[in-house]
Amino acid sequence: MKIPIIFVFVCVSIVTCGKIKEKTTVKPAEKGSTVALVCEGVHVHGKLHKRHVIMNGINRPYQLAMYSHGHKVFFSYNVGEDTEDTFGIGYVKINDTMPTEIKDVKNGFAVAVHEHTAYFGSPHGIYADNLTKSEGDIKHIVKGFDIWDMFFHENLYFISFPKQRLHKYHIHHKNVTLQEQIHEKIYQFVIDGDDDIFITTRDGLFMITSGTDYRIPFEGPKVFRAIEVNHKGVAHFCAKSAIYVAHKKNHTLIEIARVKNIFGITFDKSDNIVYSNPHEIVKLLPHDCKN
Ligand SMILES: *[C@@H]1O[C@H](CO)[C@@H](O)[C@H](O)[C@H]1NC(C)=O
Ligand SMILES: *[C@@H]1O[C@H](CO)[C@@H](O)[C@H](O)[C@H]1NC(C)=O
Ligand SMILES: *[C@@H]1O[C@H](CO)[C@@H](O)[C@H](O)[C@H]1NC(C)=O
Ligand SMILES: *[C@@H]1O[C@H](CO)[C@@H](O)[C@H](O)[C@H]1NC(C)=O
Repeated sequence: MKIPIIFVFVCVSIVTCGKIKEKTTVKPAEKGSTVALVCEGVHVHGKLHKRHVIMNGINRPYQLAMYSHGHKVFFSYNVGEDTEDTFGIGYVKINDTMPTEIKDVKNGFAVAVHEHTAYFGSPHGIYADNLTKSEGDIKHIVKGFDIWDMFFHENLYFISFPKQRLHKYHIHHKNVTLQEQIHEKIYQFVIDGDDDIFITTRDGLFMITSGTDYRIPFEGPKVFRAIEVNHKGVAHFCAKSAIYVAHKKNHTLIEIARVKNIFGITFDKSDNIVYSNPHEIVKLLPHDCKN
């Protein structure tokens, strides 16, 4: 199935499946004090954040999507033996200790949430779940495609497998159109707050400025585990060991946080980063290092 990216995940997780920790020594604020405080956490945009573990003990959670109203994080994960890739989609509610698997979606791999609807992509197509209903209300809305990745921007975009072409599911017309303007095989696709498009191919990351069709190559990492746009419209790019944002003028990526072995990313309603690694889902919260 989704061999190329999974293969990379497995290799890396064997090597660096460790703790993500960074120690920062803060100079005592008071003159005369001799005890240095040691803060643990991750710097995001140069500011210290602490790791709040939402859930641990999950087997390789990949794509993340947050439903803030319901305090839920959806994700796809490995539900089979370690040696086989059998995926499933689950969610964890804030303060829960166990994930709830969405059993109606077999082998689900892709997840997106928009307003009160969650979308689940699988080899059997796309399912939509009305999250305002307490029991869940899952409808099979797209058939005939194996879904690799999804992205919501006014409508639901998805990348099919194995052709890796971009399609759009029109949420009002309820039909699917191949997006022929994206002619290449892609791994990821997002549209940011300026309506600029980012795609990744085996050659790396490219930006297509709104209203143009010229591909601008970006310097820096070539392989990305996840790309998501936050509520302010800023695209975030996760490579193997760091999170980046785009510098659109000089076509480079700017590292905003070092996080080892990142698998997936999403944002809570205040745009705090929520990410996953091979066995955890973690939220990064600003932390002033007092007490
Ligand atoms: C989660 O637990 C904390 C501490 O027990 C509590 O303050 C908070 O309201 C809980 N959140 C939800 C959504 O239940
Ligand atoms: C979800 O369910 C609610 C309550 O039944 C309904 O009002 C709403 O229209 C539904 N949303 C969608 C997208 O079907
Ligand atoms: C999708 O549905 C709309 C409204 O029925 C229609 O105008 C449009 O041509 C359809 N597109 C495709 C690709 O079928
Ligand atoms: C691009 O701009 C950023 C921010 O001003 C800067 O840090 C970086 O060095 C620049 N890169 C190049 C290649 O000019």
